[in-house]
Amino acid sequence: MKNGFSDRITDVPKSFIREILKVTIDDSIISFAGGLPNRQFFPVKGLQKAANDVFEEAGDEILQYANSEGYLGLRQFIADRYRHKDGLEIPVEDILITTGSQQGLDLLGKTFLNEGDDLIIEEPGYLGAIQAFSLYRPRFYPVPVREGGMDTTALARVLRERQPKLLYTVTNFQNPSGISYTDENRQSVAHLVRDRSCLIIQDDPYGDLRFSGGRRVSFKRLLTNSTVLLGSFSKTVAPALRLGWLVAPPPIMEKVIVAKQAADLHSDYLAQRILHRYLCDNDIDAHIATIIHQYNKQKEAMIGAIRDFFPAGATCTNPEGGMFLWVTLPEGMSSLQLFEAAIARKVAFVPGTPFYVDRKDTNTLRLNFSCSNEDTIVEGIRRLGESIKELFNQTGGTNR
Ligand SMILES: Cc1ncc(COP(=O)(O)O)c(C=O)c1O
Repeated sequence: MKNGFSDRITDVPKSFIREILKVTIDDSIISFAGGLPNRQFFPVKGLQKAANDVFEEAGDEILQYANSEGYLGLRQFIADRYRHKDGLEIPVEDILITTGSQQGLDLLGKTFLNEGDDLIIEEPGYLGAIQAFSLYRPRFYPVPVREGGMDTTALARVLRERQPKLLYTVTNFQNPSGISYTDENRQSVAHLVRDRSCLIIQDDPYGDLRFSGGRRVSFKRLLTNSTVLLGSFSKTVAPALRLGWLVAPPPIMEKVIVAKQAADLHSDYLAQRILHRYLCDNDIDAHIATIIHQYNKQKEAMIGAIRDFFPAGATCTNPEGGMFLWVTLPEGMSSLQLFEAAIARKVAFVPGTPFYVDRKDTNTLRLNFSCSNEDTIVEGIRRLGESIKELFNQTGGTNR
């Protein structure tokens, strides 16, 4: 008995990021550590008008309890978008509105995981997924992702040796690495998973934030009945709405709805109505285009500055979209030590460690480019480059 807390909650690691980022609250620090969309693009006026309009038109109805599946109009909007963007025919009955896509992860953990079940995650992987699934006490089997997608040799090995129930993927502009799976990689992954009782979770909160290249094939097309999709309005409209969605075939949806009802009955109905109204009255693709334009410029500024200021041997990904890129320092360097050196120069990032389930230190780190303007990015990367060189000179790169 540990203070009466469940083993489940006691075992989940404290948010390492929150601990480490306390120092970045200082305004004088240039922070590439956060994971937030840029608030400059929150459609304040549009949402304000949508809120007024729905209150005006629907009155007390929008303040009542609502159905667990979510507002039909919003689900229809999502289904239409899948049809237009990906050529996918998704019946509205297969769409559940969730309280952010983060809730989708929790509902899937609740629905599928018994203690000790095998679960494949990406390495490095999304911290929030590691945390959400950890509560259900699975055994994590990390499979590396690298340029082009998942390491299929490593995936094949895990599939041969274990019986994973779930395979969790962020196929577009992954958090934390910025990596996207190519079509060929998706096909190879699907080929390996086909005929096994392993469900693919395709979590795609960044998919619409594509700067270059065309949309890639969805696992939903490759493995229709054993894929669950998660989506979100957090990065395209505003995260405070806490609205996302989950797409699952009927046998899975039936169980997920039970988990949803137990969790919160339904997602915020008022927020759903306001968002739906906003989406009907505004051109969301034009809005997304504005975001993409700016994020892309910021990404280019970051990549250019990395080329200019980082020492040879430090490499980075060049994402086709999203909000993050991933740096690999020369072999043997510690990103935790670099963090200390960088804070002394008033620049912050997230060391790679928390994105792995089993590492104490790494030579990798995540940089966010969505929240700083280009000049700030160049200055921050310059300082980071100096910090890397300083650490390298001190330790010769063998300080792990
Ligand atoms: C990969 C991934 N999945 C899910 C989420 C959760 O997003 P939300 O709950 O706001 O939809 C995030 C947030 O950053 C994310 O990066």
